[in-house]
Amino acid sequence: MCGIIGAVAHNNVQPILLQALKTMEYRGYDSAGICVVEQGKLQTTKAKGKLNNLETLLEEQPLSGHLGIGHTRWATHGVPEVRNAHPHQTQDIAVVHNGIIENHQVLKETLTAQGASFASDTDSETIPWLWQHELNNTSDEEQAFLSMLNQLEGAFAIAGVKANKGKRLWFARRGSPLLLAKGEQGVFVASDALAVGTAADEVAYLKEGEWGWANTQDIQVFDPSGKPVDIPWEPMPEIVAASSKGDYDHYMLKEIHEQPRVFSEILHAYASDGQNIHFPQASFIENDPLPSRIIIVACGTSYHAALTARYWLERYLKIPVEVDVASEFRYRDPVIGDNTWFITLSQSGETADTLEALRLFKRQTPQNKTLVFCNVASSSMVRESDGVIELYAGPEIGVASTKAYTAQLLALALFSLKLASDAGVIPAKGTKQHIQKLFDASQGVADLLNNTSAFDTLTPLFSQAHGALFLGRGPCFPLALEGALKLKEISYLHAEGYPAGEMKHGPIALIDESLPVIVLALRQYHLDKVISNLHEVQARGAKVILVTDMEKNECPNNVDALIHIPEGDFFSAPLLASIPLQYLAYNVAKAKGTDVDQPRNLAKSVTVE
Ligand code: AGP
Repeated sequence: MCGIIGAVAHNNVQPILLQALKTMEYRGYDSAGICVVEQGKLQTTKAKGKLNNLETLLEEQPLSGHLGIGHTRWATHGVPEVRNAHPHQTQDIAVVHNGIIENHQVLKETLTAQGASFASDTDSETIPWLWQHELNNTSDEEQAFLSMLNQLEGAFAIAGVKANKGKRLWFARRGSPLLLAKGEQGVFVASDALAVGTAADEVAYLKEGEWGWANTQDIQVFDPSGKPVDIPWEPMPEIVAASSKGDYDHYMLKEIHEQPRVFSEILHAYASDGQNIHFPQASFIENDPLPSRIIIVACGTSYHAALTARYWLERYLKIPVEVDVASEFRYRDPVIGDNTWFITLSQSGETADTLEALRLFKRQTPQNKTLVFCNVASSSMVRESDGVIELYAGPEIGVASTKAYTAQLLALALFSLKLASDAGVIPAKGTKQHIQKLFDASQGVADLLNNTSAFDTLTPLFSQAHGALFLGRGPCFPLALEGALKLKEISYLHAEGYPAGEMKHGPIALIDESLPVIVLALRQYHLDKVISNLHEVQARGAKVILVTDMEKNECPNNVDALIHIPEGDFFSAPLLASIPLQYLAYNVAKAKGTDVDQPRNLAKSVTVE
């Protein structure tokens, strides 16, 4: 989703702004722009589409100055056209914005009546006009900025610059992430630490409602009432290395192949001795009694990981585990009650609906505990939860989540095992065996990834396909949902994941010879019943791809493709079965020539609802 960069530096900021925008491409965008204060005047260049369009314009007519802002826009209000691209500006003020200004209609009408002339269809353009209006009323710059912020409703991160005076970079955060960074080159604000990883040595994450300004000598941050606050600087994390594709064609492929390393990091972080599981940043898991209910809330792929965990937790703990999509949970007047743990799952830790669901839960029942499984240690969800289980997947650049998803599965498996083990439902010996199986699965995944030729044989089955159906039972049902999501996200082929037993209640009508059906049939999860479902789709002419841990001689022999995976146990089997699904989506997308890492319309981190 929109990426913001602002810089006030000793040298020309144009290359810094462009480099930062490049590193934020993965967030998803459809236009981009920068504004540099050049000899006291605002100079702005914007382009529709990919960043190289903006680069070409800047090669023809470079900008030069020590203060500037930049933006990659993911359209919300107004189509992706140059007029709607950021920065938005008046004659003297330019602003980039991430989020949604909910009262933009009212503001637009009032400001227009006062002489503002709007050039775009965006909500964001109200910000520079409102700021300009406040500056007309007072010579106190800080007062004008705060007064402008106080009139904005909704969620936002903002960076802005003014022509003429000062050389100050202005910024504010309410609802959307924004950080400050500094180094020898200067001071920066950005949506994402990756954007300033090479330019800065220290970083500070702004808290909700904080705002301020910076120049190369001074940085001032204020709370929402205007009181100055200290800036909690910390060293820039080692994130830069991960921002290269290495020898891989795509980040997604690189990230698929990183999974064995990620599993090893998680297992060594949380179960290093192979028999005890410990989550150092979530001590309440050990210290508090088991709750009478667990609620897990997430979006997209993270939601699918949550659905799998429900099978693990309910089987052993015998307490109700409710799993919901965050955008539904937060608006359905959920009944929460006491003695409930609330778990969020999020790769980014910034997904707007999940974050707001967490806040709603905390407002309604502050006495209950909250836990987040998250891949970004500095994210809002991590900062606002009682306990954290870090995923250690490293930055995930491909929009389609792969390693962060399986990292969630593995961490959730360990979490389920820990609760069951502490409750005495799984004895110590059993816990040790299950942990060993997770270590084995890590090796099994490495073996699968060392020989991917079998996955290549699936691609031709999709050349004429009008869609795809993924079927599974038990934990293979959410896996089917995830397989379908991966395929549609990056190949744009319609795909559905279904509980295999539900197939006869509707989707069987879709089946013909141009609908490949991917059947997930694992020994752990109702194998015989799934094989019966396989025969039912086969009888209707579907091309069947069987993903299974059965021995080859036990498998139905007339399937169109067979992917054999190592056998896992109740907790580890989904990790192994995920790999062929990820590879299938990747190969089909590559064959179709789509933009694998930045698929159309998608954003990596969905920071607006
Ligand atoms: C995954 O491939 C998707 N890009 C998307 O569904 C994602 O999982 C979802 O937006 C949630 O993101 P989060 O994990 O960062 O909260």
